[in-house]
Amino acid sequence: MGKEYLTIALGKGRLAKESMNLFEKIGIPCEEMRDKSTRKLIFVNEEKKVRFFLAKAPDVPTYVEYGAADMGIVGEDTILEEARNIYEVLDLGFGACRMCVCGPESARELLDSGSLIRVASKYPRIAKDYFYNKKHQSVEIIKLNGSIELAPIVGLSEVIVDIVETGSTLRENGLSVLEEVIPLSARVVVNQVSMKMNNDRIMELIRQLNSVL
Ligand code: PRP
Repeated sequence: MGKEYLTIALGKGRLAKESMNLFEKIGIPCEEMRDKSTRKLIFVNEEKKVRFFLAKAPDVPTYVEYGAADMGIVGEDTILEEARNIYEVLDLGFGACRMCVCGPESARELLDSGSLIRVASKYPRIAKDYFYNKKHQSVEIIKLNGSIELAPIVGLSEVIVDIVETGSTLRENGLSVLEEVIPLSARVVVNQVSMKMNNDRIMELIRQLNSVL
């Protein structure tokens, strides 16, 4: 019987390029996937019996939980927010950034005042966990889908919980980091059944990835 394909889901966007570089380094190139003009969704490396696909980052943990992908590469922010039943096995180090509470300096005093403030975020679960379980502060969480920095500027919320990488989006909009929630980076995640059934192959792949970090 021929070796079965190992299926790997990569999050589209900021982490995709570095993820591909990493697989190239361990001898599993996915050249076709770099072609921005292609509408193809799945890429096969016949020699290594590996299939890759690019998915929206928040969907990567879903594909991996259901076993439609054996493994995936996705940011820790997405892993925490999606809270799927998957194994997180390796910190790849790249895509390093921080989840922070941000806002205008004037909002700083509101954070410890116990007043019911509004918090806008693309990550309502992470925001809720931070304010409720860590700070024990009741807040109203407002879910947004992007350009979160707008919220305190136009008066939708007092603060935001969002990713800060270089800090330039904050700077250019007159906002600051007020508190740090958690450091983030790209992680390898694995389906729980694949980890048992395909342990040798997956562990070898993790070992190889780890050796080129
Ligand atoms: C992310 C994040 C911040 C920005 C941080 O947004 O939500 O807005 O990057 O990066 P910086 O600290 O280097 O400026 P992204 O560009 O992914 O798009 P979004 O606003 O649509 O979420």
